[in-house]
Amino acid sequence: MNPMSDAGSRNDSGSGSDTGPESDMGSGRGTGAGGSGGGAHDGAFLRGRVALVTGSSRGIGRAIALALARAGADIAVHGRRGADASNPGGQETQAAVRALGRRAEVFQGDIAVKSDVEALLESVGQAFGRLDVLVLNAARAPFKSTERLLERDARQLIDTNLLGNLWCVQRATPWLAKQGGDIVYISSLGSRFMNPDYPLGVMKAAMEALVRQWAEELAPKGIRSNAVCAGLVKTDAFKTMRLLWPGIEHLPADLVVAPEEVADVVLFLTSPGARAIRGQTLVVDRGLSNRLIRPVLPGSAALGE
Ligand SMILES: NC(=O)c1ccc[n+]([C@@H]2O[C@H](COP(=O)([O-])OP(=O)(O)OC[C@H]3O[C@@H](n4cnc5c(N)ncnc54)[C@H](OP(=O)(O)O)[C@@H]3O)[C@@H](O)[C@H]2O)c1
Repeated sequence: MNPMSDAGSRNDSGSGSDTGPESDMGSGRGTGAGGSGGGAHDGAFLRGRVALVTGSSRGIGRAIALALARAGADIAVHGRRGADASNPGGQETQAAVRALGRRAEVFQGDIAVKSDVEALLESVGQAFGRLDVLVLNAARAPFKSTERLLERDARQLIDTNLLGNLWCVQRATPWLAKQGGDIVYISSLGSRFMNPDYPLGVMKAAMEALVRQWAEELAPKGIRSNAVCAGLVKTDAFKTMRLLWPGIEHLPADLVVAPEEVADVVLFLTSPGARAIRGQTLVVDRGLSNRLIRPVLPGSAALGE
Protein backbone atom coordinates (compact mmCIF):
# COMPACT_ATOMS: atom_id res chain seq x y z
CA MET A 1 0.00 0.00 0.00
CA ASN A 2 1.17 3.48 -0.64
CA PRO A 3 2.21 4.62 2.83
CA MET A 4 0.57 7.95 2.21
CA SER A 5 -2.64 6.90 0.65
CA ASP A 6 -4.87 6.71 3.69
CA ALA A 7 -3.78 9.89 5.36
CA GLY A 8 -3.34 12.00 2.29
CA SER A 9 0.11 13.14 3.20
CA ARG A 10 3.49 11.61 3.07
CA ASN A 11 3.96 12.79 6.63
CA ASP A 12 0.75 11.71 8.22
CA SER A 13 0.81 7.99 7.73
CA GLY A 14 3.12 5.34 8.96
CA SER A 15 3.18 5.26 12.71
CA GLY A 16 -0.27 6.69 13.20
CA SER A 17 1.04 8.49 16.26
CA ASP A 18 1.45 12.18 16.90
CA THR A 19 5.06 11.94 16.02
CA GLY A 20 4.34 10.09 12.82
CA PRO A 21 4.90 13.05 10.56
CA GLU A 22 8.41 13.77 11.72
CA SER A 23 9.45 10.21 12.17
CA ASP A 24 8.36 9.54 8.65
CA MET A 25 10.24 12.48 7.20
CA GLY A 26 13.19 12.01 9.42
CA SER A 27 13.78 8.36 9.05
CA GLY A 28 13.17 9.15 5.59
CA ARG A 29 12.18 7.28 2.73
CA GLY A 30 15.39 8.86 1.60
CA THR A 31 18.68 7.91 3.05
CA GLY A 32 17.74 9.07 6.49
CA ALA A 33 17.87 12.55 7.85
CA GLY A 34 17.38 11.66 11.49
CA GLY A 35 14.20 13.60 12.12
CA SER A 36 12.76 14.42 15.48
CA GLY A 37 9.29 15.15 16.79
CA GLY A 38 7.38 18.40 16.94
CA GLY A 39 8.47 19.71 13.58
CA ALA A 40 12.12 20.07 14.48
CA HIS A 41 14.71 18.74 12.08
CA ASP A 42 18.44 18.38 11.89
CA GLY A 43 18.91 20.94 9.15
CA ALA A 44 19.65 18.26 6.55
CA PHE A 45 16.15 16.86 6.27
CA LEU A 46 16.43 16.67 2.48
CA ARG A 47 19.45 14.40 2.52
CA GLY A 48 18.97 11.62 -0.02
CA ARG A 49 16.21 13.55 -1.74
CA VAL A 50 16.10 15.14 -5.17
CA ALA A 51 14.67 18.54 -6.09
CA LEU A 52 13.91 19.95 -9.52
CA VAL A 53 13.82 23.77 -9.48
CA THR A 54 12.53 25.16 -12.76
CA GLY A 55 14.29 28.36 -13.79
CA SER A 56 17.23 27.80 -11.43
CA SER A 57 19.87 29.05 -13.87
CA ARG A 58 19.68 32.43 -12.14
CA GLY A 59 17.72 34.71 -9.83
CA ILE A 60 15.35 33.40 -7.18
CA GLY A 61 15.50 29.88 -8.62
CA ARG A 62 19.23 29.70 -8.02
CA ALA A 63 18.80 30.83 -4.41
CA ILE A 64 16.13 28.14 -3.94
CA ALA A 65 18.39 25.48 -5.44
CA LEU A 66 21.16 26.43 -3.03
CA ALA A 67 18.86 26.49 0.00
CA LEU A 68 17.54 23.01 -0.81
CA ALA A 69 21.08 21.76 -1.42
CA ARG A 70 22.20 23.11 1.96
CA ALA A 71 19.42 21.01 3.48
CA GLY A 72 20.91 17.97 1.74
CA ALA A 73 19.02 17.70 -1.55
CA ASP A 74 20.57 16.82 -4.86
CA ILE A 75 19.46 19.33 -7.45
CA ALA A 76 18.15 19.20 -11.00
CA VAL A 77 19.10 22.66 -12.25
CA HIS A 78 16.95 23.95 -15.08
CA GLY A 79 16.76 26.84 -17.52
CA ARG A 80 15.06 27.73 -20.77
CA ARG A 81 18.20 28.48 -22.69
CA GLY A 82 20.95 25.99 -23.33
CA ALA A 83 23.69 25.73 -20.73
CA ASP A 84 26.72 26.77 -22.73
CA ALA A 85 29.38 29.46 -22.77
CA SER A 86 26.90 32.12 -23.85
CA ASN A 87 24.42 31.09 -21.15
CA PRO A 88 26.58 29.99 -18.23
CA GLY A 89 23.82 30.42 -15.63
CA GLY A 90 22.92 26.75 -15.34
CA GLN A 91 26.54 25.72 -14.93
CA GLU A 92 27.13 28.43 -12.35
CA THR A 93 24.23 27.12 -10.27
CA GLN A 94 25.50 23.59 -10.77
CA ALA A 95 28.98 24.56 -9.57
CA ALA A 96 27.55 26.33 -6.52
CA VAL A 97 25.46 23.27 -5.57
CA ARG A 98 28.42 20.95 -6.07
CA ALA A 99 30.53 23.21 -3.87
CA LEU A 100 28.03 22.38 -1.11
CA GLY A 101 28.80 18.71 -1.61
CA ARG A 102 25.53 17.86 -3.33
CA ARG A 103 24.97 16.39 -6.75
CA ALA A 104 23.72 18.76 -9.48
CA GLU A 105 22.90 18.22 -13.14
CA VAL A 106 21.76 20.86 -15.61
CA PHE A 107 18.69 20.41 -17.81
CA GLN A 108 17.39 22.64 -20.56
CA GLY A 109 13.83 23.02 -21.77
CA ASP A 110 11.11 25.53 -22.49
CA ILE A 111 8.25 24.75 -20.11
CA ALA A 112 5.86 26.35 -22.61
CA VAL A 113 6.56 23.40 -24.90
CA LYS A 114 4.88 20.24 -23.66
CA SER A 115 7.36 17.90 -25.32
CA ASP A 116 10.21 19.80 -23.64
CA VAL A 117 8.58 19.24 -20.25
CA GLU A 118 8.09 15.54 -21.01
CA ALA A 119 11.75 15.23 -21.97
CA LEU A 120 12.80 17.23 -18.90
CA LEU A 121 11.04 15.00 -16.38
CA GLU A 122 12.13 11.89 -18.24
CA SER A 123 15.76 13.06 -18.12
CA VAL A 124 15.61 14.07 -14.46
CA GLY A 125 14.08 10.69 -13.59
CA GLN A 126 16.75 8.84 -15.53
CA ALA A 127 19.58 10.88 -14.05
CA PHE A 128 18.52 10.78 -10.39
CA GLY A 129 16.08 7.86 -10.17
CA ARG A 130 13.68 9.79 -7.95
CA LEU A 131 12.03 13.17 -7.38
CA ASP A 132 10.94 14.52 -4.01
CA VAL A 133 10.55 18.27 -4.48
CA LEU A 134 9.31 20.20 -7.51
CA VAL A 135 9.69 23.98 -7.33
CA LEU A 136 7.72 25.77 -10.03
CA ASN A 137 9.77 28.93 -10.29
CA ALA A 138 10.33 29.58 -14.03
CA ALA A 139 8.31 32.46 -15.46
CA ARG A 140 8.50 34.68 -18.50
CA ALA A 141 5.95 37.22 -19.62
CA PRO A 142 5.51 40.36 -21.67
CA PHE A 143 5.31 43.60 -19.73
CA LYS A 144 2.38 45.36 -21.41
CA SER A 145 -1.26 46.12 -20.82
CA THR A 146 -3.79 43.43 -21.71
CA GLU A 147 -5.12 45.84 -24.34
CA ARG A 148 -1.79 45.71 -26.17
CA LEU A 149 -1.20 41.98 -25.91
CA LEU A 150 -0.68 40.40 -29.33
CA GLU A 151 -2.00 36.91 -29.82
CA ARG A 152 1.51 35.51 -29.56
CA ASP A 153 2.06 37.43 -26.31
CA ALA A 154 -1.14 36.05 -24.83
CA ARG A 155 -0.31 32.51 -25.88
CA GLN A 156 3.23 32.76 -24.51
CA LEU A 157 1.85 34.16 -21.26
CA ILE A 158 -0.54 31.26 -20.76
CA ASP A 159 1.63 28.53 -22.28
CA THR A 160 4.58 29.38 -20.05
CA ASN A 161 3.02 30.53 -16.83
CA LEU A 162 -0.07 28.35 -16.54
CA LEU A 163 0.13 25.38 -18.88
CA GLY A 164 3.90 25.00 -18.49
CA ASN A 165 3.47 24.50 -14.75
CA LEU A 166 0.55 22.15 -15.32
CA TRP A 167 2.65 19.98 -17.65
CA CYS A 168 5.47 19.95 -15.09
CA VAL A 169 3.14 18.72 -12.35
CA GLN A 170 1.46 16.14 -14.56
CA ARG A 171 4.82 14.66 -15.52
CA ALA A 172 6.32 14.96 -12.05
CA THR A 173 3.38 13.40 -10.19
CA PRO A 174 4.29 9.74 -10.85
CA TRP A 175 7.78 10.42 -9.52
CA LEU A 176 6.65 12.43 -6.51
CA ALA A 177 4.00 9.84 -5.69
CA LYS A 178 6.56 7.05 -5.34
CA GLN A 179 7.53 8.20 -1.86
CA GLY A 180 5.52 11.39 -1.36
CA GLY A 181 6.80 14.86 -2.10
CA ASP A 182 6.31 18.58 -2.27
CA ILE A 183 5.30 21.04 -4.95
CA VAL A 184 6.10 24.69 -4.24
CA TYR A 185 5.02 27.40 -6.65
CA ILE A 186 6.57 30.89 -6.73
CA SER A 187 3.89 33.55 -7.01
CA SER A 188 3.99 37.34 -6.86
CA LEU A 189 1.93 40.19 -5.44
CA GLY A 190 0.45 40.57 -8.93
CA SER A 191 -1.84 37.70 -7.95
CA ARG A 192 -3.74 40.05 -5.63
CA PHE A 193 -2.86 43.63 -6.61
CA MET A 194 -3.29 45.21 -10.01
CA ASN A 195 -0.02 46.30 -11.58
CA PRO A 196 0.00 48.24 -14.85
CA ASP A 197 1.57 46.29 -17.71
CA TYR A 198 1.84 43.13 -15.63
CA PRO A 199 -0.46 40.49 -17.17
CA LEU A 200 1.67 37.87 -15.40
CA GLY A 201 -0.34 38.74 -12.28
CA VAL A 202 -3.38 37.08 -13.85
CA MET A 203 -1.39 33.87 -14.25
CA LYS A 204 -0.11 34.12 -10.68
CA ALA A 205 -3.70 34.33 -9.41
CA ALA A 206 -4.71 31.33 -11.50
CA MET A 207 -1.70 29.40 -10.28
CA GLU A 208 -2.47 30.07 -6.63
CA ALA A 209 -5.89 28.54 -7.29
CA LEU A 210 -4.25 25.58 -9.03
CA VAL A 211 -1.96 25.10 -6.04
CA ARG A 212 -5.09 24.72 -3.88
CA GLN A 213 -6.54 22.31 -6.42
CA TRP A 214 -3.40 20.16 -6.40
CA ALA A 215 -3.31 20.19 -2.60
CA GLU A 216 -6.57 18.25 -2.59
CA GLU A 217 -6.19 16.26 -5.79
CA LEU A 218 -2.69 15.05 -5.04
CA ALA A 219 -2.96 14.59 -1.27
CA PRO A 220 -4.00 10.94 -1.65
CA LYS A 221 -0.70 10.40 -3.45
CA GLY A 222 1.24 11.91 -0.57
CA ILE A 223 2.03 15.12 -2.42
CA ARG A 224 1.73 18.49 -0.70
CA SER A 225 1.26 21.64 -2.73
CA ASN A 226 1.86 25.20 -1.53
CA ALA A 227 3.10 28.53 -2.85
CA VAL A 228 5.31 31.42 -1.83
CA CYS A 229 4.19 34.87 -2.94
CA ALA A 230 7.27 37.05 -3.16
CA GLY A 231 7.39 40.83 -2.95
CA LEU A 232 9.95 42.78 -4.95
CA VAL A 233 13.23 40.96 -5.51
CA LYS A 234 16.22 42.46 -7.31
CA THR A 235 16.88 39.89 -10.02
CA ASP A 236 17.28 40.30 -13.79
CA ALA A 237 13.50 40.74 -13.97
CA PHE A 238 13.79 43.78 -11.71
CA LYS A 239 15.86 45.57 -14.39
CA THR A 240 12.81 45.47 -16.68
CA MET A 241 10.41 46.44 -13.89
CA ARG A 242 12.60 49.45 -13.12
CA LEU A 243 12.12 50.74 -16.67
CA LEU A 244 8.34 50.32 -16.49
CA TRP A 245 7.79 51.57 -12.96
CA PRO A 246 10.66 54.01 -12.22
CA GLY A 247 9.18 54.57 -8.74
CA ILE A 248 10.30 51.17 -7.52
CA GLU A 249 13.91 52.35 -7.70
CA HIS A 250 13.09 54.52 -4.69
CA LEU A 251 11.48 51.79 -2.66
CA PRO A 252 13.04 51.73 0.81
CA ALA A 253 15.71 49.04 0.87
CA ASP A 254 13.94 47.42 3.81
CA LEU A 255 10.97 46.60 1.54
CA VAL A 256 13.10 44.75 -1.00
CA VAL A 257 13.18 40.99 -0.48
CA ALA A 258 16.41 39.06 -0.95
CA PRO A 259 16.24 35.91 -3.13
CA GLU A 260 17.52 33.97 -0.12
CA GLU A 261 14.54 35.15 1.94
CA VAL A 262 12.16 33.64 -0.61
CA ALA A 263 14.30 30.51 -0.71
CA ASP A 264 14.16 30.10 3.07
CA VAL A 265 10.37 29.95 2.99
CA VAL A 266 10.39 27.49 0.10
CA LEU A 267 12.73 25.36 2.19
CA PHE A 268 10.39 25.64 5.17
CA LEU A 269 7.48 24.43 3.04
CA THR A 270 9.44 21.26 2.23
CA SER A 271 10.32 20.69 5.89
CA PRO A 272 8.63 18.56 8.54
CA GLY A 273 7.51 21.76 10.27
CA ALA A 274 5.22 22.56 7.33
CA ARG A 275 3.54 19.15 7.33
CA ALA A 276 0.10 20.60 8.11
CA ILE A 277 0.23 23.38 5.51
CA ARG A 278 -1.63 22.49 2.34
CA GLY A 279 -2.79 24.55 -0.60
CA GLN A 280 -1.62 27.79 0.99
CA THR A 281 0.28 30.76 -0.35
CA LEU A 282 2.70 32.37 2.11
CA VAL A 283 3.44 36.03 1.41
CA VAL A 284 7.12 36.98 1.75
CA ASP A 285 7.27 40.69 1.01
CA ARG A 286 8.80 42.40 4.07
CA GLY A 287 5.40 43.98 4.67
CA LEU A 288 5.15 45.76 1.32
CA SER A 289 1.56 44.63 0.70
CA ASN A 290 0.49 45.90 4.13
CA ARG A 291 1.34 49.40 2.95
CA LEU A 292 0.00 49.41 -0.60
CA ILE A 293 -3.16 51.32 0.26
CA ARG A 294 -1.27 54.31 1.63
CA PRO A 295 -0.42 56.08 -1.65
CA VAL A 296 -4.11 56.38 -2.58
CA LEU A 297 -5.33 57.64 0.78
CA PRO A 298 -5.74 61.45 0.73
CA GLY A 299 -2.93 63.16 2.58
CA SER A 300 -0.88 60.02 3.17
CA ALA A 301 2.73 59.73 2.14
CA ALA A 302 3.60 57.46 -0.74
CA LEU A 303 5.96 54.58 -0.14
CA GLY A 304 9.51 55.77 0.21
CA GLU A 305 8.63 59.33 1.21
N1 LIG B 1 11.95 39.34 -9.26
C1 LIG B 1 10.86 39.66 -8.58
O1 LIG B 1 10.70 40.80 -8.09
C2 LIG B 1 9.80 38.63 -8.32
C3 LIG B 1 8.79 38.94 -7.40
C4 LIG B 1 7.81 37.98 -7.14
C5 LIG B 1 7.82 36.77 -7.79
N2 LIG B 1 8.80 36.50 -8.70
C6 LIG B 1 8.73 35.20 -9.36
O2 LIG B 1 9.88 34.45 -9.02
C7 LIG B 1 10.22 33.58 -10.11
C8 LIG B 1 11.67 33.81 -10.50
O3 LIG B 1 11.81 35.19 -10.83
P1 LIG B 1 13.24 35.84 -11.12
O4 LIG B 1 13.07 37.29 -10.92
O5 LIG B 1 14.30 35.09 -10.40
O6 LIG B 1 13.36 35.53 -12.70
P2 LIG B 1 14.60 35.68 -13.68
O7 LIG B 1 15.79 36.23 -12.99
O8 LIG B 1 14.07 36.36 -14.89
O9 LIG B 1 14.93 34.12 -14.06
C9 LIG B 1 13.95 33.40 -14.72
C10 LIG B 1 14.34 31.94 -14.76
O10 LIG B 1 13.29 31.19 -15.38
C11 LIG B 1 13.79 30.55 -16.55
N3 LIG B 1 12.73 30.57 -17.56
C12 LIG B 1 12.07 31.64 -18.05
N4 LIG B 1 11.17 31.26 -18.96
C13 LIG B 1 11.28 29.92 -19.06
C14 LIG B 1 10.63 28.94 -19.85
N5 LIG B 1 9.69 29.26 -20.75
N6 LIG B 1 11.00 27.65 -19.72
C15 LIG B 1 11.95 27.31 -18.82
N7 LIG B 1 12.59 28.18 -18.04
C16 LIG B 1 12.26 29.47 -18.17
C17 LIG B 1 15.02 31.33 -16.95
O11 LIG B 1 15.88 30.52 -17.74
P3 LIG B 1 17.08 31.19 -18.66
O12 LIG B 1 18.15 31.64 -17.71
O13 LIG B 1 17.52 30.07 -19.53
O14 LIG B 1 16.44 32.34 -19.39
C18 LIG B 1 15.59 31.67 -15.58
O15 LIG B 1 16.25 30.55 -15.03
C19 LIG B 1 9.21 33.88 -11.20
O16 LIG B 1 8.14 32.99 -11.12
C20 LIG B 1 8.74 35.29 -10.87
O17 LIG B 1 7.47 35.59 -11.39
C21 LIG B 1 9.78 37.40 -8.97
